[in-house]
Amino acid sequence: MIKSNILPGHVTVIMDGNGRWAQARGLERFRGHLEGVESVRDITEYAAQAGIRYLSLYAFSTENWNRPSDEVSGLMALMGRSVLNERPAFQKNNIRFRVIGDRDSLPPELLRDIEEAEKETENNTGLTLIVMLSYSGKWDILQAARRYAADVVSGQADTGLDGDAFSSYLSTAGIPDPDLMIRTSGEERISNYMLWQCAYTEFYFTDTLWPDFRRAEFAAALENYARRQRRFGKTEAQMEEE
Ligand code: FPP
Repeated sequence: MIKSNILPGHVTVIMDGNGRWAQARGLERFRGHLEGVESVRDITEYAAQAGIRYLSLYAFSTENWNRPSDEVSGLMALMGRSVLNERPAFQKNNIRFRVIGDRDSLPPELLRDIEEAEKETENNTGLTLIVMLSYSGKWDILQAARRYAADVVSGQADTGLDGDAFSSYLSTAGIPDPDLMIRTSGEERISNYMLWQCAYTEFYFTDTLWPDFRRAEFAAALENYARRQRRFGKTEAQMEEE
């Protein structure tokens, strides 16, 4: 297992390629999502054991609501089942579970199951697993801007907004920005994901489809990250002085 001093504190994943995985086998697209849940379980368990503090997974974007309605309802049902099934494993592995996204758009019964799992795991001190659900980067920035504007109007905030203050209005407030973003399936774009939060994130792209992305591939991504030098806009000499 990788040395903890070069472990990324927050790894985020755009899980892509479930549909193509299924199509390549002549199966219904949904079989790809079912197999994708197995990858979620494997990567989560590995991340918890490796000592990663935050793992966030892009499970459903704001744009995904435009998919065929049976795929959308199937995915929502799968989320609900997964949350219920995984609760004992969260407790066993000391994992704190959270969901980030537009909660108002989620089916009420799914929201109830999510809130119960969040409450049950809120005092766990190991890995924080964050499922990004009905999330998009532009949605996040807009909701932050609206809440900030409301606070200015009500006198609770002044107009001297800086980056840290703005971050506190984002849905990810309190969570460190991702150190490493992994995207599977050969696509190399950000797709309206954590637009603000990924300003200095290292990107890792792999052709592997999400249902085939298991702990060995994840370990390879972590090793690749460990070899990179992050400069945050500074020179190499400046970084060596720090
Ligand atoms: C992208 O593949 C995947 C999704 C839109 C859904 C991700 C959901 C899961 C892995 C299952 C549930 C997750 C949790 C956290 C329990 P795609 O359908 O866009 O694949 P394609 O690009 O090949 O069509």
